[in-house]
Amino acid sequence: MPEIDPALRLAAAEAVAREAGSLARRYYLVRDTLEIESKGAQDLVSQADREVETLIRDRLAKLFPEDGFVGEEHAHALKTDGGGHWVIDPIDGTWCFLNGIGSWCVSLAYERAGKVETGVVYDPMADELFAARRGGGAVLNGVPIRVADATSLADGTVSLGYSLRVPVTSMLPLFDKLLNARGMYQRHGSGALGLAWTAAGRLIGYLEPHMNSWDCLAGLLLVEEAGGFTNDFLENNGLLDGNPVIAGPKALEAEFARLTDHW
Ligand code: IPD
Ligand code: CA
Ligand code: CA
Repeated sequence: MPEIDPALRLAAAEAVAREAGSLARRYYLVRDTLEIESKGAQDLVSQADREVETLIRDRLAKLFPEDGFVGEEHAHALKTDGGGHWVIDPIDGTWCFLNGIGSWCVSLAYERAGKVETGVVYDPMADELFAARRGGGAVLNGVPIRVADATSLADGTVSLGYSLRVPVTSMLPLFDKLLNARGMYQRHGSGALGLAWTAAGRLIGYLEPHMNSWDCLAGLLLVEEAGGFTNDFLENNGLLDGNPVIAGPKALEAEFARLTDHW
């Protein structure tokens, strides 16, 4: 098979994320009518999540029949021949989505051989499309973005993510260290969007003790391509098992290592 031009995958991801986002937005506007199931404490899923992922997979499988899939809501289709995977979160921020808070997005990444090559995060409520290709920079609605030029934790707000997949002891020392350094925090409700906002310099970083690959691969590439640093999320089988996420401006890398040294 000839190599596919990475620019083509990026253009396809942008178009598919927009179409998926507009379907998700239609569901959001009638969210009270959706069938909702609980996957566990603080973990909901609705027909919107499943149907949006189905749309994304259908479109990408037609365009790139050789590619594999790792998605939150449907079975993975893993490649064993060295091929790459589309890593999909149809709705990141489901709790916000189902409770009428507009902080949710579609997140799509393409990973191959342990590297993220393409990342797109689309926020349909704000019509903001964050997109990056490895080596090609990061843009928001076509305009280049950069991480914040913060040099201290006191220079802005860090987004902290947390889920019940990890013990509360992973978070408590983090709050202590961040607040004592005159830092400030928010929890976005959508980790993918928290990372995209970090890439755009709105937040000075994103920290979470465990994320799944579909939550964060697109956002991590956005931060790197916007001039920031990230931890090596894909090490130790991060694609399938998840890992911690640490991302922000390079000037804060040492401070973030200190905040998270208990992980
Ligand atoms: C969750 C969100 C949340 C993060 C969790 C994720 P979901 O994804 O990104 O912000 O803290 O780790 O599981 O369930 O809304 O797709
Ligand atoms: Ca998610
Ligand atoms: Ca999700």
